[in-house]
Amino acid sequence: PTPTPTASYAIAFSSVASSREDKVTVPAGYTVDVLFSAGDVVEAGAPGYKGSFQPSSETEKQAGGNHDGMEFYELVGVDPNAGGLLAINHEVADYNILFSGSYNAATATAEQKLLALSAVGVSVIEVARGADGKWAVKAGSKYNKRYTGNSFYTPSGPAASALSASIKGTLNNCSSGRTPWGTYMTCEETTNNYLDPTQPNNDYGWVVELDPYAELTSLPKKRTAMGRFSHENVAYMADSSNRVAFYMGDDTTPGCIYKFVPSAAYSSTNRAANTDLLDSGTLYVARFNADGSGEWRELTQGKNGLVPGATDPGNVSQGPATPVTVNFATQSDVLIRTQAAARVAGGTIMDRPEWLTVAPDNSAVYCTLTNNSSRQVADAANPRTGNRNGSIIKFKENANSPLATSFTWEIFVLAGDPSLSAANGGNANLVGNINGDTFSSPDGLRIDPKGRMWVQTDHSITSTSGVAGKALVDVFGNNAMFHVDQTTKLSKRFLVGPVGCEITGIAYTQDLKTFFINIQHPEGAWPVAGAQPRSSTIVVRRTDAQPVGN
Ligand code: FEO
Ligand code: CA
Ligand code: CA
Ligand code: CA
Repeated sequence: PTPTPTASYAIAFSSVASSREDKVTVPAGYTVDVLFSAGDVVEAGAPGYKGSFQPSSETEKQAGGNHDGMEFYELVGVDPNAGGLLAINHEVADYNILFSGSYNAATATAEQKLLALSAVGVSVIEVARGADGKWAVKAGSKYNKRYTGNSFYTPSGPAASALSASIKGTLNNCSSGRTPWGTYMTCEETTNNYLDPTQPNNDYGWVVELDPYAELTSLPKKRTAMGRFSHENVAYMADSSNRVAFYMGDDTTPGCIYKFVPSAAYSSTNRAANTDLLDSGTLYVARFNADGSGEWRELTQGKNGLVPGATDPGNVSQGPATPVTVNFATQSDVLIRTQAAARVAGGTIMDRPEWLTVAPDNSAVYCTLTNNSSRQVADAANPRTGNRNGSIIKFKENANSPLATSFTWEIFVLAGDPSLSAANGGNANLVGNINGDTFSSPDGLRIDPKGRMWVQTDHSITSTSGVAGKALVDVFGNNAMFHVDQTTKLSKRFLVGPVGCEITGIAYTQDLKTFFINIQHPEGAWPVAGAQPRSSTIVVRRTDAQPVGN
């Protein structure tokens, strides 16, 4: 059922101004606390980062870097508004706290590789709210656990036999998602192990399912049925019969939008019964037609041109491309070369799909298309060439069903700013149509359980804005988080991050009184003045302990 927003969940905060300050800015009446920074203790026995370099035997048990996608999980017997688990992705190492100088995979020592790979993957931490209202990591919790680039993962599904029997490492853990049965899905945003190129390349670029409660001992598994590409996040839609679809974006230039529909319904009463659910099902790619209709085209060997000797037309969004012959002889071939399969099947090449989110009543799915400055050929769903600022696209499944094979779509908003207009010496193509506080490069995206849409940005601060002499940071300030009303499309800036960071990752307690947000790759002296910058999870609350956003 559609949650009806009540007065207490209406959006009523006062927008914060754009900022370039080296701090987190929130509206009046809100507080910010730093909860969990790169190098903090996760597993017992680690000392934690204290300002000097450490051996990999220690960093392997501590928080990785570049905190990204994140989910909150409730614990049986614990007030869900006062404690639970956070599963947090680490996309890249915070190299500045691992070793001096830059990392070079070609010349790295064995210990340097161990260090770099220790700082990617996932942290699972138990968190609890104290009497003073502040949240802290619960030291010594049996749930506190690291999954890193040095630990091992089992491949499963139709392409498993083409991969290593036991895969060393998950990496580039960008965004993530959850299943209806309470597991965590961490997404690998690259298809090669750039930190250790000696590892077989087909082993990366997958969705990895793990159990934050560590009850399902067959996990973690790399789920090959969901395809291999530059995975951003996963968002699910379930129906009343427990059939489910998982929506996924491929954040590459170019990239498509996908969904995976398991063959069977999930069990809502027996978690263990779902452990093989993600190994069989149908993978589809989205085709956005110019008339506002859309199709999910099946990526199954033998269908939609996926046969031996198929012709991959290449990336036609950037102008003339050279077609390449691809042999799709088995479903494993299709899943390992998902991007080529999507182009053969007629999927639409989008402007770098980042996060997807599903409205609580299944009436809409949204996807951030962050930017694509190299686009030369526009189409209806990606209407801007040289698209520096990105957009958010909305689509509606036929009958609001996760099993739909067709949908309708519209562009929800084109990002940009009026100061980029031709009258100011800029490019009118970059102005966009935001109503209210403007932004560039939407990335993190989530509709909360009360139907409120939160948008987080990741513009490259030094990139040119389209007006001579102005960088994106000159126009939009530091990266920020916004509420965007889905009806009026009014955008209000809720939070601004410190210098150089992107804002990504959003989770909350059931009562929506606590928001967890990630500050990724800060470049100044945040969170501790005078010390090395560290990616961190922050907690945002109201001083009057009411739900965030009101
Ligand atoms: Fe890792 Fe596409 O953001
Ligand atoms: Ca992202
Ligand atoms: Ca991004
Ligand atoms: Ca990032």
